Amino acid sequence: MFSKRNVLIAFMIIIALGILTLSLIYDNVDDVKEDKKTSVKIGVSIYNQYDTFISSLVNHLTEHAKYLEQEKGITITLDMSNAGRNQITQNYQVENYIREDYDIICVNLVDRTDASVAIDMAMKADIPIIFFNRELVEKDLQRWDKLFYVGAVALESGIMQGQIVVDYCKKHFMEIDKNVDRVLQYVILEGEPTHQDALIRTEYVIDTITEAGINVEKLGDEIANWNRAQAETKMSQWLKSIPNEIEIVIANNDDMALGAIDAIKKENIMDPPIVVGIDGTKVGLEAVYNGDMIGTVYNDAKGQAEGIIELAYSLAFDEELPEEIELIEGKYIRKPHIIVTPDNVEEYMK
Ligand code: BGC
Repeated sequence: MFSKRNVLIAFMIIIALGILTLSLIYDNVDDVKEDKKTSVKIGVSIYNQYDTFISSLVNHLTEHAKYLEQEKGITITLDMSNAGRNQITQNYQVENYIREDYDIICVNLVDRTDASVAIDMAMKADIPIIFFNRELVEKDLQRWDKLFYVGAVALESGIMQGQIVVDYCKKHFMEIDKNVDRVLQYVILEGEPTHQDALIRTEYVIDTITEAGINVEKLGDEIANWNRAQAETKMSQWLKSIPNEIEIVIANNDDMALGAIDAIKKENIMDPPIVVGIDGTKVGLEAVYNGDMIGTVYNDAKGQAEGIIELAYSLAFDEELPEEIELIEGKYIRKPHIIVTPDNVEEYMK
């Protein structure tokens, strides 16, 4: 029925169609490869969008992503989601980023001891996670070579806060020591009880003060979860129960220091206690500038944000990190703190 010639023609047509299809597929693969080279999708989940320090870090993330887009001629899609202090919500957000094929996921853990669900999902999908600010436990971080942590050198913040107090006492002890007993009566406002920074700061600030030979007496310690309003409530309670006895308020962060100042101002205290914070947020720096706080410790939100974006870029494009960013043990980027007092506060307000 079929002549040899027709069979040959049909055979040649099939071969030609095959070649055409293959070349189309190959072109598409090439397009995808091209696409990968010029764009990256980063998904960020934060523990609580109403945290002053975290929202400043998030602003710096956006700024540095824009800078890098220009610098490298690439497109960075940076999507944020707020976990609203709920680990289960955060796990869903990570799952969504994975489903939507994000290249890198950045996680500001709600519960830093509960990273396993996010890690399991990311490992399965082969998508790196950069954790930040809320440090996961070492054992979790070691589970996979595509897990990273960007944060601060936690120990430093407590030590530096202690140094601010020690230096201030050297010059003004007579003024602070209201009851003239040569002991510093203090209250301390603490961040979330499981947060590495709250634990470390509380311990090291007092150690630093006592090691410098200053005697201290604790009149109270309260957890205010990094929050200004909660700190104000705790401080007003103290001002009612132990009025005139507190000589210094030590706060694990600026927002809680400002909450204490709010309470002090409302009570209209004649001889208010001195207040010291940590973070160097915009409002914190203003309080140092105005003399409401004796000092703060600059927690480098900008440097940490730059570290996160640069690391995301280097992972997505398989490039080296810039020289000034050190990846410690292949896993950590840690930014140092700086002491801020009225002497240098203007430098940081710019
Ligand atoms: C900051 C706090 C912040 C907390 C959030 C700490 O490093 O000092 O201001 O509330 O991180 O995790």
